[in-house]
Amino acid sequence: MKIGIDEMRFATTPYYLSMTDLAHARGEDPNKYLIGIGQEKQAVVPPTQDIVTLGAQAAAKLPADKLKRVRTIIVATESGVDNSKASAMYIKHLLKLDDNIRVIELKEACYAATAGLQFAKGMVTLEPQTYVLVIAADIARYGLNTPGEVTQGAGAVAMLVAANPHVMTIEPGAVSYSQDLMDFWRPLYATEAMVDGKYSTNVYIDFFQHTYQRYLQQTGLSLEDFTALIFHLPFTKMGKKALESLLGDRDDQVAKRLRDQLKAEQVDCRSVGNLYTGSLYLGLMSLIQHGSVAAGDRIGLFSYGSGAEGEFYTGILQPDFHDHVEQLDGPLNARQQVTVAEYEDMFNQQLGMKPEDIEFDLTKDHSRFLLAGQRDHQRQYVDRD
Ligand code: HMG
Repeated sequence: MKIGIDEMRFATTPYYLSMTDLAHARGEDPNKYLIGIGQEKQAVVPPTQDIVTLGAQAAAKLPADKLKRVRTIIVATESGVDNSKASAMYIKHLLKLDDNIRVIELKEACYAATAGLQFAKGMVTLEPQTYVLVIAADIARYGLNTPGEVTQGAGAVAMLVAANPHVMTIEPGAVSYSQDLMDFWRPLYATEAMVDGKYSTNVYIDFFQHTYQRYLQQTGLSLEDFTALIFHLPFTKMGKKALESLLGDRDDQVAKRLRDQLKAEQVDCRSVGNLYTGSLYLGLMSLIQHGSVAAGDRIGLFSYGSGAEGEFYTGILQPDFHDHVEQLDGPLNARQQVTVAEYEDMFNQQLGMKPEDIEFDLTKDHSRFLLAGQRDHQRQYVDRD
C-alpha cells in the first residue's frame, strides 16, 4: 500500500523584518546575512500568535472533507506552550474537530515532524481509511543581539498523511541516527535557545553524511537516482554546506541539477527564517513550487534536530502533487514589513512563563486565530470566524 503526504498547507505570522535592516541595526555588513547566512526576511511574531494559532491557521486551510476524516493529530514542536497539555488539544478545539480523535505532541528539536510523519505512516498502515494530521509548528527564538538572531523565524506546516496520497509517498528504509550531544538546547526556565553555533553546523553535516551514506549502502541507490536532495534549513546556507559536503568539486549535470533544486528549496525559507520542525517541509513546498520536479521523481530528505538526531529518507512525487500543495507567493507577499524597533517591541511582548493575567490588543493582527492573553494561568484563544 502506498502511504505518504496527501496535502500540505503553511501559515506564518502577518509580519516580517528585512535582514538588511537588522544588519544595519546590529552593525553588520548586510551581505553577511543575505549571502553568508542566506536569509533575506524573517517572520516576526506578535504577542497574539503562538504555535497553537499558527498550527490552527495552517490546518484550517486543509480541505474540510478530509479534515473530517482525521482520527489522530500529531503536533511536532519545541516551542510548546504547556509542559503537560498537548498543543494538539487546543488546535483540535479551534478547528472544531470531532472529539473522537487522538491528540499528542512530539518533541526532539527540529526532527520531531519527521518522526510524526513516520508514526502517521504506521497508523495509516493499520487503518488505511483514516487520515492523520501532522502539524510542525515552531517559533525559533534566540534573543536580541545574539549570533543566532539572524536565524530566527516562525510558522507552521500542516500535512495530511493518508493511503494513496496525492503529494508524495514515503518510501521504506529511512535511516535514523541519534547521539546525546549539546549543540543546541533550551532548559525549561529559558524562553530562548542556547546554542554552540559552529559546533551545531558541524554535527549537522556529520549526521547528514552518516545517514545518507548508510541509506545508499542499504538500498544500492546512488546520487543519480535523486531528482532533488532537500534539507532541514535553519538558515539557507546550511543546506548549501551540506550539499557541497557531498558534491565537492563535481560540476557535471547531476551536480548542477542538485544545486538548482536546492536553490528552489531555499526560496521560501529565505523569506521566513527557521521554522525548526517545519523547515524541511516548508522547503519541500518551496521545491514543488519553484523547482524542476515531475511525477515519479525521487526526492531525498534530510531531517535534523539538535540534541541530536538525523534521518535520511526518500519519497516519490505523485501524479497531481502540484494541486495539493499550497502556493506560497501570495501569502508571503501579503505580509507587512516592520522596523527593527517594532520587531524588538513584539519580541519582548511574547507570552513567556509569566504567571500574571494579561490581555493583548487584538485590533492589529487580522489573523483568524489569535492568542488573546492569559487568565488564571490559562491561555485564552479566539477564533475570529
Ligand atoms: P556567526 O558566527 O555570527 O557567523 O554565526 P559567521 O562569522 O560564521 O559568518 C557566517 C557566514 O557568513 C560565514 O560563511 C562567513 O564567511 C560569511 P561560512 O564560512 O559559514 O560559509 N560572511 C559573509 N559573507 C558575505 N559577505 C560578508 C560576510 N561576512 C561573513 N560581508 C551561526 C553563524 C550559524 C553559527 C549563528 O547564526 C548561529 O548560532 N545560529 C543558530 C544555530 C544554527 O542555526 N545551527 C545550524 C545547525 S543546528 C540545526 O540545524 C538545528 C536547529 O534548527 C535547532 C533544532 O534542531 O531545533 C538550529
